[in-house]
Amino acid sequence: MKCAWILLLGQIFVGAWSLSREAKGPNFVLMMVDDLGFGDLGCYGNTTLRTPNIDRLAQEGVKLTQHIAAAPLCTPSRAAFLTGRYAIRSGMASHGRMGVYLFSASSGGLPAQEVTFAQLAKQQGYATSLIGKWHLGLNCERSDDFCHHPNRHGFDHFYGIPVTNLRDCQPGHGSVLYQALRRIPYRSIGVVVATAAVLHALGVFTATRKTLLFSALLAATPLALFAIVILLFPYLNCFLMRNWEIVEQPFLSETLTQRMTQEAIQFLQRNSERPFLLFFSFVQVHTALFASAGFRGRSLHGLYGDAVEEVDWSVGKLMETLDSLGLSENTLVYLTSDHGAHLEEISIHGEVHGGWNGIYRAGKSTNWEGGIRVPGILRWSAVLPGNKSINEPTSNMDIFPTVAKLAGARIPEDREIDGHDLMPLLLGEVERSEHEFLFHYCNAYLNAVRWRPPNSNSIWKAFFFTPNFSPENSTTCFHTHVCFCTKEYVTYHDPPLLFDLSRDPSETTPLTEREEPDFHGILGAMREAVNRHARSLTPVPDQMSPGNILWKPWLQPCCSTLSQLCKCNRDDAQ
Ligand SMILES: *[C@@H]1O[C@H](CO)[C@@H](O)[C@H](O)[C@H]1NC(C)=O
Ligand SMILES: *[C@@H]1O[C@H](CO)[C@@H](O)[C@H](O)[C@H]1NC(C)=O
Ligand SMILES: *[C@@H]1O[C@H](CO)[C@@H](O)[C@H](O)[C@H]1NC(C)=O
Repeated sequence: MKCAWILLLGQIFVGAWSLSREAKGPNFVLMMVDDLGFGDLGCYGNTTLRTPNIDRLAQEGVKLTQHIAAAPLCTPSRAAFLTGRYAIRSGMASHGRMGVYLFSASSGGLPAQEVTFAQLAKQQGYATSLIGKWHLGLNCERSDDFCHHPNRHGFDHFYGIPVTNLRDCQPGHGSVLYQALRRIPYRSIGVVVATAAVLHALGVFTATRKTLLFSALLAATPLALFAIVILLFPYLNCFLMRNWEIVEQPFLSETLTQRMTQEAIQFLQRNSERPFLLFFSFVQVHTALFASAGFRGRSLHGLYGDAVEEVDWSVGKLMETLDSLGLSENTLVYLTSDHGAHLEEISIHGEVHGGWNGIYRAGKSTNWEGGIRVPGILRWSAVLPGNKSINEPTSNMDIFPTVAKLAGARIPEDREIDGHDLMPLLLGEVERSEHEFLFHYCNAYLNAVRWRPPNSNSIWKAFFFTPNFSPENSTTCFHTHVCFCTKEYVTYHDPPLLFDLSRDPSETTPLTEREEPDFHGILGAMREAVNRHARSLTPVPDQMSPGNILWKPWLQPCCSTLSQLCKCNRDDAQ
């Protein structure tokens, strides 16, 4: 009898608990793969790369076929994803050539006033974790103030890399900076030095020994610093942190996805009794490419394919964990890429190290569709339909209001939010996306506009400028490794180049006035939208100014001493 009472009480308690839990909305597992192309996944039409776990997510959920990244580069796209706002609003869009952070010792980053979806979920009682790549800044004034750190932006737990994986993180991968080092005009410098020496010997040049030495030092210092930065690059920039602590410097990439997966599984297990939000931000499939021993040489697409298949394995492990904890039904799972595949990634041995954007033009760093159209899969078995495909324009900024609403949080009203709640569209309550216009930024410059008029099926896209490709007639910028947005590297168009993506998804042929009778009307409507959008922008500090991007030695995190090359491995020691 006593026992029955306890059981009954127990049931009431569990019932009330699950009710209150339900009231808090679903759990979230949000996954972002770095540089993954639209055409790399089986569920998006790839027949040779094997991604069964991701394909299964699409089978059991909703697949977005016009999912658009808010920017074609990592830093601004991720800033927009986390805040639901175009990167220009947070100052995370560069006015210069360099659109991302390269150094852990830069002072720019996601400002403290920005609100992330993690912060909103955390306020609603969610356990929050970021595992993997951050790339939104680290320190402001000292090497340990961590003003831009993920733990300061709503994540309770962080295990990952604060910057990004670059070729330079792995010796012998033909690094980007190493290429720069090769471009220094050594011969001209030599000629100048030799001439000065000869002139001095002939007595024409009557400088004292001291001034000579001083000028030589002055000339050599920046070069020496530059060389040190490049040689020490992996040690200074490619490190792994757990919360505030550097646990591995430099990180060992081969096993990184395995270890990140393990950390994520532990996070899920630890928090299975309470609502959680996990942002799993894959370090793969950005270069320097890597895959762990079990995956190397397995795919039909070299190391790149191996890396994609390892990502898929990891997705499978996370889903398996949700299943075994009985959490699959009530967890909203999302998978995307931060932007299109990087077509200029050909290794020094000629192997293709970038992905495939399917029928879409160009890739990463451009606002041609190949640069911004990304996979977008959402599964929430208890609520969303399965095996459904939606071709309406959606944005990676939509995750912010979607998560906020489901978590029961208030969406901040003191600022512009550019994303829209995806739920009505996913549930089929509405047929049309709320994104009538989307603005495509190339760093801080408005590059193109997309218009989905309410009364037609056209998807208009107008380009105000386009990148100058090299080699000519290709869709790549091999001369600069990524395409730049500044005036020396682009061609301006007036009138803008107009496409109708519903008829020409590959953007092969711009429409002329003759082909499109309403040519000027369409462009007029788009210009008006641009003006409205421009009026909604307010000036903010530039987080990507040269001063905020460059390497500042006093901000350099280093987990041992410089003489030990900042090397350490704390996880092993434990
Ligand atoms: C599949 O992806 C690989 C790697 O990106 C690419 O080379 C290949 O062309 C793709 N295949 C198809 C059929 O899309
Ligand atoms: C999924 O949808 C496609 C296209 O609508 C259909 O051909 C296929 O049979 C469906 N698969 C399942 C398992 O329902
Ligand atoms: C590029 O294409 C244009 C137009 O088709 C052609 O006139 C030009 O010769 C091409 N350039 C190269 C380098 O192939």
